[in-house]
Amino acid sequence: MRALTICLLLASVCTGAAIVRPAAAGQDKPWLNSALSADERADLLLKDMTPSEKLSLLRGRIGFSLEGTGAPHGAIGSAGFVPGIPRLGIPSLQETDAGLGIANPLGVRPGDVATPLPSGLATAASFDPSVAYDGGAMIGRQAWRKGFNVLLAGGVNLARDPRNGRNFEYFGEDPLLAGTMDGEAIRGIQDQHVISTVKHFVLNDQETGRYYANAVIGEAAMRESDLLAFEIAIERGRPGSVMCSYNLINGSYGCGNAHLLNDVLKGDWHFPGWVMSDWGAVHDVRDAAGGLDQESAGDMRPEAGFFGKRLDAALADGTVPAARLNDMVRRILRSMFAVGLFEHPPVVSPVNYEADSAIAQRAAEEGIVLLKNSNRLLPLTGREKRIAIIGGFAENGVLSGGGSSQVLPAGGPYIANSLGGKGLAAIFRKVIYDPSSPAKAIGDHAPNAELRFADGRYPSEAVKLAAWADVVIVFAEQWMGEGLDAPDLTLPSGQDALIAAVTQGNPKTIVVLETGGPVLMPWLAQAAAVVEAWYPGVKGGEAIANVLFGAVNPSGHLPMTFPADLKQNPRPILPGSDGVFPDLPGGGAVKPFDVVYSEGSDVGYRGIAKRSLVPLFPFGYGLSYTTFGLTNLMVTGGQSLTVDFDVTNTGTVAGKAVPQVYLIAKTGAPVSRLIGFSKVALEAGQTRHVRLTADPRLVADFDAQTKNWRVQDGSYEIMVGYSAGDVALKARTSLTARTLAP
Ligand code: BGC
Repeated sequence: MRALTICLLLASVCTGAAIVRPAAAGQDKPWLNSALSADERADLLLKDMTPSEKLSLLRGRIGFSLEGTGAPHGAIGSAGFVPGIPRLGIPSLQETDAGLGIANPLGVRPGDVATPLPSGLATAASFDPSVAYDGGAMIGRQAWRKGFNVLLAGGVNLARDPRNGRNFEYFGEDPLLAGTMDGEAIRGIQDQHVISTVKHFVLNDQETGRYYANAVIGEAAMRESDLLAFEIAIERGRPGSVMCSYNLINGSYGCGNAHLLNDVLKGDWHFPGWVMSDWGAVHDVRDAAGGLDQESAGDMRPEAGFFGKRLDAALADGTVPAARLNDMVRRILRSMFAVGLFEHPPVVSPVNYEADSAIAQRAAEEGIVLLKNSNRLLPLTGREKRIAIIGGFAENGVLSGGGSSQVLPAGGPYIANSLGGKGLAAIFRKVIYDPSSPAKAIGDHAPNAELRFADGRYPSEAVKLAAWADVVIVFAEQWMGEGLDAPDLTLPSGQDALIAAVTQGNPKTIVVLETGGPVLMPWLAQAAAVVEAWYPGVKGGEAIANVLFGAVNPSGHLPMTFPADLKQNPRPILPGSDGVFPDLPGGGAVKPFDVVYSEGSDVGYRGIAKRSLVPLFPFGYGLSYTTFGLTNLMVTGGQSLTVDFDVTNTGTVAGKAVPQVYLIAKTGAPVSRLIGFSKVALEAGQTRHVRLTADPRLVADFDAQTKNWRVQDGSYEIMVGYSAGDVALKARTSLTARTLAP
């Protein structure tokens, strides 16, 4: 607290960022002229830098004391720190995780808490870009007020495997949805003068053996899937930095992958910012030639620290082209100017946690997905007499996901249980509940009901309680975290058996899931209602209760397919799952292993359609307490594909529809591809018109030979529906051939 007060008085000292006053923009520091473009300013500044000053910006450190090494001077305590250059007014980079809020790793900033957003999947499930923007803006603001100017956010790896321990941080399996939502989150962050990353570039799609996994995939398939998600996110969000990933892609590590960094990112996409490595992901000084601009956490592994003396020598002897030095530095400076780090340095100042938690609550409410609602059991009326609440620590709080994105929540004491382990694994294996009790919030909606709670450890006890109740709400949870994948899709600790037993005790059972992603539901036929609440964030309990009682009409839709069985996954056995891997990258003599993405760009629902499988719940699925109708479909072709239709609320309460447009056939061949979506708020009886124009890349194929997108001449069939598995209306049009730059 004391430190915070002092910081308030001496903001510039605390942030480690020299506050640059416009008056300083004299002739001696022409780069401070904010009327110039970011490129011009970077060029001007570069001219005044000595070679060692340039080099000093290229190597980051952990921003706190690592095993007694002492924190770097000026670091405020976070994942990363790059010292600034006071002589030139270059602020330090104070880098903090992550996309779900401001982390406080190992509690290095004692007592500092933040507002956890719901998981990225929850935000994606909102299908509402404004939810992603608002969440980004909220965490960007908090970052800035805590003294940070870089947020290690923007995770957009595609969910190719429902077992991936980090799916909860990301935005699902579809490049259009994920790229759009991620881009908006990044835009929200950067509008606060905090640089955002987009990460982890690329195909870091499983955590098992993540330092050794070699993603094997063809060029066209990659461009049409994982790379497209990044491309869209970068176009929309213009992140200052791209964080390259731990894994290898087609035999070359993400952080030295010249094809992906030089040819695709900086070449084809003209990305003007800088590439920073993931923590400890640099393997060789030659990664600088491969397109890496900055080594993060160069002190994390003793054998690392490539971008210091070793880079200097490599630049001198030509191992790394000498011109790279200026290019690397210019990219960093350019982003700092573009996002406003010189003009708007962070000012450590109080955070309004109450107001910010409302933003997190809205995100949760927009993203909760109603999966089943037999006999309209939901919404509850509030007139129930006896409500049984079972399991999921629902008296105490709501679950969050583990790893570097973990936020220590504001708003009251939270519960943290360690799952054990050693080293990094131990740090990441902490199960934290945000202090928002669903049981309490349920009680607030049903003031006259008697609420009883069973912790769910003993099915026999839970069944008895269920039999007593008018209605039963079972909370089931699946904790996921960075660095480890789920071995299967069951609910852990016998919860599937618990739910099955409870539904026998009382068929009026509502199951609320707090999961990192898809799970199997062997009890689905017996449960009356199922609500997917994801990790719902700091006001998750209130959000869940608002949905259960109809104060919020659910409008979330699945951003991932919920498979009926792991056999529906292209890799039923997770590659590397029988391996034992060191805790840190680069350690040991472990050989990389292949993860063959044989499905190519047919990720998730696209593969499901291609293989004519029936999932448990399709991508895009989600129910409402009202009903919707789609009419008047018109599709126009030619140079681009535009879809027009009307959506009507045909029920009796206000609600939000999420009509989705899919390409279902292209020049005679069946496909399945989301090409547009919209979230439409409608009063009962109201109709609104929707027009969507498809991004041409979504109807094109990537030609790996010519390195172009090609739209083929011919007939295109689209459908509008409420999920990938639900055709409401179909129409056809013709498109003329077109070639687009990559
Ligand atoms: C994670 C990144 C994170 C970084 C810094 C890495 O292990 O993969 O997402 O930003 O650590 O904490």
